[in-house]
Amino acid sequence: MPAAESPTFSTTREGELTLDDHEAIAAMLARAFPSYDHWYAGARSWAGMQPELRVVAREGDVVVAHAGLRRQFVTVGDADLLVTAVGMVAVSPTVQGTGLGGELLRRVDAALTTLDSGFGVLETGDDVQGFYRRGGWLPLDGLTAHYTAFSGDGAGVLVTQDHGWLLREGTRTLADWPQGELHWNGQMV
Ligand SMILES: CC(C)(COP(=O)(O)OP(=O)(O)OC[C@H]1O[C@@H](n2cnc3c(N)ncnc32)[C@H](O)[C@@H]1OP(=O)(O)O)[C@@H](O)C(=O)NCCC(=O)NCCS
Repeated sequence: MPAAESPTFSTTREGELTLDDHEAIAAMLARAFPSYDHWYAGARSWAGMQPELRVVAREGDVVVAHAGLRRQFVTVGDADLLVTAVGMVAVSPTVQGTGLGGELLRRVDAALTTLDSGFGVLETGDDVQGFYRRGGWLPLDGLTAHYTAFSGDGAGVLVTQDHGWLLREGTRTLADWPQGELHWNGQMV
């Protein structure tokens, strides 16, 4: 088999995506998150909050890696805080374990710098924590956060999550993170 071409990365504002882009992203996300493939039907290329910026890697027209980012004001303790939520981080199952995820996180870092909110924030399960730690993300130990999750039919449910939160330092560091519980006051990317 000939060596596969290196994927091409691009970082694109949401308003610049075409319908074909949304379909190609949704198709990859459905394969990477099979338990949640009901979210990624047709051209619906987001799960909760629609991102404002996408980092996408393509081989030809096929999307092989993706991350979504969106700046959001959240409440932490008594403070209003601007953060960038990062989500839908995925590599196509056919090319996982080949270094593409690490490259994706480096592109996410560059996108976080562009968005300039100070912090990147995400939540993930124990099985993937090591991937993000490898990419420089830091645990927000002991943080409890509340957000709205949506079922496939659009019903919103308040969810409380008391572990798995990670922070990417930017112009602000872990030491700047306020004390208290985090309220997303809505959905996350
Ligand atoms: C998690 C995911 C994005 C990783 O992408 P990938 O292309 O397989 O990762 P890479 O091959 O680039 O690995 C980068 C580094 O992270 C490590 N790593 C990858 N997955 C890991 C995991 N689950 N746990 C711990 N470390 C992991 C690799 O060993 C590698 O380390 P190294 O640089 O020291 O060799 C990919 O497995 C995926 O899409 N999974 C399904 C969707 C998902 O779970 N997304 C995250 C949910 S928030």
